[in-house]
Amino acid sequence: MVRLMWLHRILTKAVNVDPAKDIALQTPYYLIDKSRLLPNLKKIAGLREASGVKCLLALKCFATWSVFDFMSEYMDGSTSSSLFEVRLGHEKFAGETHAYSVAYADHEIAQVLVCSDKIIFNSIGQLSRFAKASHGHVRGLRVNPGVSTSEFDLADPARAFSRLGEHDPKSVAAVADQISGLMFHNNCENDSFERFDEMLTLIEDRFGEIIHNMDWISLGGGVHFTGDDYPLDRLAARLKAFAQTFGVQVYLEPGEAAITGAATLEVSVLDTMHNGKNLAIVDSSIEAHMLDLLIYREPAKMAANTGDHAWMICGKSCLAGDIFGEFTFDAPLKAGDRLSFQDAAGYTMVKKNWFNGVKMPSIAIRELDGTTRLVRDFDYDDFAAALS
Ligand SMILES: Cc1ncc(COP(=O)(O)O)c(C=O)c1O
Repeated sequence: MVRLMWLHRILTKAVNVDPAKDIALQTPYYLIDKSRLLPNLKKIAGLREASGVKCLLALKCFATWSVFDFMSEYMDGSTSSSLFEVRLGHEKFAGETHAYSVAYADHEIAQVLVCSDKIIFNSIGQLSRFAKASHGHVRGLRVNPGVSTSEFDLADPARAFSRLGEHDPKSVAAVADQISGLMFHNNCENDSFERFDEMLTLIEDRFGEIIHNMDWISLGGGVHFTGDDYPLDRLAARLKAFAQTFGVQVYLEPGEAAITGAATLEVSVLDTMHNGKNLAIVDSSIEAHMLDLLIYREPAKMAANTGDHAWMICGKSCLAGDIFGEFTFDAPLKAGDRLSFQDAAGYTMVKKNWFNGVKMPSIAIRELDGTTRLVRDFDYDDFAAALS
């Protein structure tokens, strides 16, 4: 959900978009590059092969369905956090479709069941409420093990008073006969295998007895196993041993790990100013188009970022703090210059909004042969249609 230190290493290797190939596209636009997506997908496929785990794309992180066919060749399906996401996964992502939501409404449940292979309830309350409706469906329950890796309280599923899953082993055991699986999501941007291993051991210690009675266990997302130095072989061995010990099918729900580094946000400089620092205003907005960075108070990333000319890159919304970050360039910036923010795939397109009526970035895909095609554009009618 938020950014990782190791990402900086990947991104320093990233290259800017070749404007010659994208000359016809009007900025701003998100550019998904399949050749950058592919290495992540190959690692996912390798992990599945070596460990027997099934990997489902977490649509909350990335739901740009134009590349779902490509991704589904390397993954087992998708998982969701709402009725609309589960429906999208059902309609567009081949393979298994898991339904999960912090809470379903009565009027949603029938369609959620139609669109899903498994439903994971967040609480015993929801499991009971929809016991009759979901009878005969594969059912699971989210369990909160009380430990996590999040550095941000805002994103910490194990924070005090967390509503994310049931925490008491006795309460979970009492409903175990109504479910066949459990979901634990307690990793967050976790690039340490040791920490993952430690937390899985804690889960085994606290919930092992119940897990023995289950058919499947989802360990959620947040494990950065596609990172450069991640010991994939150790992770595969650990997951395989876990599956064998408890006799369960293990699932992972990668979001960020699947799409890290796979897209850029392409923008143009509209104006420059000087107020103690060099300021460049671009045709995008961090608040509207890369919202997570603002929420977690982190700067965007710019490839290269070398040179003698320091510039603060600012968004065009009226928010005073609409600032992408400070970067260095080989020459002073001027109106018309093209810039490319790196790592713009995860938690960006799913969160974009119409604040200030700023033009929503289009979505383009660069194919493996290097050709780029526009798959979605947004115009005034979309802006007006989002309100009434
Ligand atoms: C239940 C669940 N599964 C999967 C994910 C995906 O996590 P990430 O994008 O960090 O891999 C999340 C993220 O919040 C989640 O809450």
